[in-house]
Amino acid sequence: MTAIIDQNKIPRRALYTGETIPAVGLGTFGSDKYGPEQVAEAVYGGIKAGYRLIDCAAVYQNEDRIGEVLKRVMQEGIVERKDLFVTSKVWNDMHGEGKVLESCRKSLQDLQLSCIDLYFVHWPFPNYHAPGCDGDSRNPDSRPFSVEEFMSTWRQCEQLVDEGKVRYIGMSNMTVPKLEAVLPLCRIQPAALEMELHPGFQQPELFDYAVAHGIQPIGYCPIGSPSRPERDRTAEDIADTQMPEIVEIAERHNIHPALVCLKWAAQRGQIPIPFSVKEPQYVSNLACVTEDPLTEEEMESIRRADKNCRLIKGQVFLWAGAKGWEDLWDMEGTITC
Ligand SMILES: NC(=O)c1ccc[n+]([C@@H]2O[C@H](COP(=O)([O-])OP(=O)(O)OC[C@H]3O[C@@H](n4cnc5c(N)ncnc54)[C@H](OP(=O)(O)O)[C@@H]3O)[C@@H](O)[C@H]2O)c1
Repeated sequence: MTAIIDQNKIPRRALYTGETIPAVGLGTFGSDKYGPEQVAEAVYGGIKAGYRLIDCAAVYQNEDRIGEVLKRVMQEGIVERKDLFVTSKVWNDMHGEGKVLESCRKSLQDLQLSCIDLYFVHWPFPNYHAPGCDGDSRNPDSRPFSVEEFMSTWRQCEQLVDEGKVRYIGMSNMTVPKLEAVLPLCRIQPAALEMELHPGFQQPELFDYAVAHGIQPIGYCPIGSPSRPERDRTAEDIADTQMPEIVEIAERHNIHPALVCLKWAAQRGQIPIPFSVKEPQYVSNLACVTEDPLTEEEMESIRRADKNCRLIKGQVFLWAGAKGWEDLWDMEGTITC
């Protein structure tokens, strides 16, 4: 029998409209390691346990299975549609004219929903890689970020809001220079920014920028993605769950270091979206934000422990002539072309 977490104890975050959403969600990217059935089963168990925010994407190749689960939990009376907050994302190969609308239509059909709560532009350029590719793989059609191309994708997202197909729209894998360039052009502002956030990679500048603009940060890889695909691993990567500050706090609270990462995330103000197909893990990932908070000193010790260690470097999206993965992240403070 799944433990059921009291909804009233789960903290919530306000979007720019004032509507609130849960301070923790469930990730659904199987990292090329867990198949659609396993992920869908975890979504079923997760919703039973109390998750209400489910982070989906077309490229995770499991939205059809998750759709069956969403239908099932509603038929079984476990949850009503209005209490779920389901996200999806348009993948990089569907940015072209009319393609975003087509991609959203497919996600709606797969998820068996009439409306997606929050629809993201997954990456801010049309560069894509084949699912399951390795880290050296490059697509010859890849090109640098373009404000015009991005805005034509965003205009289609705005149209989806106008048509009632999605309630909010969001951006992901952005930088401050890119946001500076596109925010003044948006007719409908992004409600959320999905970005890599964990103790070893806190992105304070981008985080503060988003909050100051009324954009809710959603933190992906909140535990440092220990099961991420090979293409997203390098020898320099730091494992968050082995950082001495995290281990020490975990020992003090007598919990797994993963839960320290999640408590820190929720208390800082981002919405972590941890992934797990293992029931004890996904249940404790949600329960941990309802009890035994970190102290101010512990929060400060984690803030100081930031290693600026990006894990999802995105090198498979590089274009011919790019120097390295750093070019994707505008490290010089201007958009890298
Ligand atoms: N917008 C984007 O571009 C983007 C990019 C990446 C991810 N995401 C989203 O963010 C979600 C989360 O990221 P992620 O899955 O890469 O990383 P993550 O949530 O940081 O790590 C997930 C892994 O952590 C381990 N884990 C989970 N709970 C645990 C616990 N309580 N104790 C010990 N270990 C635990 C599990 O490893 P084992 O499997 O080994 O047990 C699990 O596979 C994704 O599922 C996806 O929805 C979005």
